Amino acid sequence: MSDHKIESILTEDRLFPPSDDFRQHANIKSRADYDKLRTEAEQDHEGFWAKLAHTEISWSKDFTKTLDESKAPHYSWFTDGELNVSYNCIDRHLEKNGDKIAIIFEGEKGDTRNITFKELHKEVCLFANALKAKGIKKGDRIVIYMPMTPEAVIAMQGCARIGAIHSVVFGGFSAESLKDRIEDATCKAVITADGGTRGGKVIKLKAACDEALAKGCASIETVFVFKRAGNNVAMKDGRDAWVHDLTAGLSEECEPEWVNAEHPLFLLYTSGSTGKPKGIQHSSAGYLINCIMTMKWVFDIKEDDIFWCTADVGWITGHSYVAYGPLANGTTTVIYEGAPTVPDAGRFWDLVERHKISIFYTAPTAIRALMRLGEDFPNRHDLSSLRLLGTVGEPINPEAWIWYNKVIGKEKCPIVDTWWQTETGAHIISPVPGAIDTKPGSCTLPLPGIAVDVVDEAGESITEPDRGGYLVISKPWPSMLRTIWGDEQRYVDTYWGKFNNRLYVAGDSCRRDKDGYFWIMGRIDDVLNVSGHRLGTMEVESALVAHERVVESAVVGRPDDIKGEAIFAFVVIKGERPTGADADALVADLRKWVTKEIGAIAKPDDIRFTDNLPKTRSGKIMRRLLRSIARGEEITQDISTLENEEIVKQLQGKF
Ligand code: WTA
Repeated sequence: MSDHKIESILTEDRLFPPSDDFRQHANIKSRADYDKLRTEAEQDHEGFWAKLAHTEISWSKDFTKTLDESKAPHYSWFTDGELNVSYNCIDRHLEKNGDKIAIIFEGEKGDTRNITFKELHKEVCLFANALKAKGIKKGDRIVIYMPMTPEAVIAMQGCARIGAIHSVVFGGFSAESLKDRIEDATCKAVITADGGTRGGKVIKLKAACDEALAKGCASIETVFVFKRAGNNVAMKDGRDAWVHDLTAGLSEECEPEWVNAEHPLFLLYTSGSTGKPKGIQHSSAGYLINCIMTMKWVFDIKEDDIFWCTADVGWITGHSYVAYGPLANGTTTVIYEGAPTVPDAGRFWDLVERHKISIFYTAPTAIRALMRLGEDFPNRHDLSSLRLLGTVGEPINPEAWIWYNKVIGKEKCPIVDTWWQTETGAHIISPVPGAIDTKPGSCTLPLPGIAVDVVDEAGESITEPDRGGYLVISKPWPSMLRTIWGDEQRYVDTYWGKFNNRLYVAGDSCRRDKDGYFWIMGRIDDVLNVSGHRLGTMEVESALVAHERVVESAVVGRPDDIKGEAIFAFVVIKGERPTGADADALVADLRKWVTKEIGAIAKPDDIRFTDNLPKTRSGKIMRRLLRSIARGEEITQDISTLENEEIVKQLQGKF
C-alpha cells in the first residue's frame, strides 16, 4: 500500500482548513461570511440573485422581473432584460483591460500564442461577420466540431455575438454522433477545422464532418473550416468555405445582437438513460450570472490570476470554465491542445511552470493517471505559482486527493471539489476555498443561493447523518437548464416527474455527514461515468446491437482505478457463441464498431459473449446481477426469479 493510500485512510474525516495566507486574501474570507451570504439568499432568493445580476452583468436593457414561475417546472429569469453574452465576455473589458491577455494558447508541439482582449474582440467580430455573410441569423443552430484551440472559443463567442445558438460536439465523437446531433437540432451550419492534434496524431475533423453530411444532415447549408493541422481536406463547392478566405476584407467590428435574457445561448448534448442523448438548452443571462459568480466564489478569481481548466470545450466544463466564465470575469485563461503525456507525463506541470498558472482545474481521472506515473514528473517543475486546485466530473478518491494536495499543491493550495452537471450550468456544491474547510472526497457544501437537499423516496428531507438519498435542488437557480431541445416532455419527466414537479432530481445519490457535508455516492440511473464523461449504458447497447452479428447486449459499469468506471458489455450474437480466436477477433471488431458509432470514449473495456442475458420471468434484464458479475463479486443476491439460472456461470466466464 502506498503512503498516500495509508494516509488517506487515516485522514478521511480530517478537516483541511485553508492557510491563513489564502484566507486573508480570499474573496470570501470566513465561514461567517459564507453563512451570511447563504442566509441572505435563503431569506430572499429572488432578491439575492437580482442584486448580483444587476451589478455583475452589463445589460443593454436592465430587467425588472427576476423570476417567472408561472410555467413551472419551466422557469425563466430576468425575463425582460436584454444583453449580449459576447459583449459581457469581451467588449466590456476593452477600455480598462484591452491589452490584457485573454487567452494563452499552447499546442502539443509547443507552439504558443497570446491573445489579448482587443485581439479576441477583433477575431470574434471578424468571425461573426463571416457567419452573417453566410446568412446565419439569430436563433439559428450551429454545430461546432473543433479541436481545442482558441478558434473553438472564437466560434462560440462569434455565435453568441449574433444570437446564433451553438451546439458544440466534442471532437472525439464520431461522424455518426455528429450527424445525430446535427439532425436533432436541425443545424444550419457546421464550424470545424481541417484537423486537430493529440498524442502526435492528426484528428481529421473535416473528414468526419464530410462523412456525417454524406449520411444526411439536410439542414446544413455551410461548413466553416478553420485551418489548424494543415492536413489535406476536400472542400465542397458552394458548401464549404475556409474561414480565412471568408473573413478577408470583412469589418473588424460587429455590433452585438442584443437578445432577451432567456434567449438560448447554447445546446449541449449529454447522455441520459435512453439511447438518445439529450440536447440540454441553456439561457443567456441566467447561465452567465452563475458562471460569473462561481468564478468569484469557488475559484476566488483575482485580476492577476492565470486560470487553467483542462476540459475540452466539447463538455459543459469547457463551456462554463474555458469559453464563458473566465472571459466574463476578464480573466486570463489557458488553452492547451494535446495530450497530458506528450512529450512526457510532466506536460501539465511544465505548462503550469512556464505560464505561471495560479488556478488549476482538472478531472480526478487525470489526477489518478498522472499519480500512477510518479512524483518525479511534477517534482521536476516549479509549481510555486499555484494557489488553488480544483476537480470536477466524478467523486475523487481520498488517495488521489491527498496526492494532489501534497505533490501538486505542496499542502498550501485549497482543493475545490466541485459538484455540478451539464444541466446545472455551473457549480452547485463546492467548497468556497477561503471559508470552508475541506474533507478529501467530499464536495462539502452548497453555494450561496443554491437550495440543495437530500431526500427519501417520499421527497422528505433526510436529516440524519450518513443516510443516502436522492440529491435534489429545491428552488430554481439562474443557470438551470431551460428544457431539452425538442422534447419538453422528456425534460419534465426526467428532472421533475419523480417528486411532483417540486424538486429537480439530479440523478445522483448522496449522503450528508454529521457536519452537513455532501458526499456524492454515484448515479441512480443507467448512466456511466467513464473518465469523468457521462455515457448512457443504452447508448452503448444500441451501438452494439447495430452490429450485424449482435442480437442483444447489456452494458454495465465496473470500477476502474484510473477511469473511475470502465465499460463491461455482455453480448449475445447470432448463432454459436464464439470462442478462441473467433471471439478475440469479434471483440476487436466490436470495439472498433462502437468507436465508429459513438466515439472512442464509449469503447467497451470488456466484452463477454453469452448465450443469453439474465432475465426475470417478466423479461427484465437483471442489471444488478450483471454489475456484480462485472465487478467479479460473489453472487449473494437472490437469483431465484431468474428465468435461466444456469446462465450465471457463463456470464461469470466460467465456461
Ligand atoms: C458526476 C460535469 C462527484 C455526477 C460537470 C454528475 C461528480 C455528473 C462531481 C455530471 C463531483 C460531477 N463529485 N460526482 N465533484 N462532478 N459529477 O453533466 O454524477 O458531464 O451527475 O457534468 O458527473 O456530469 P456532466
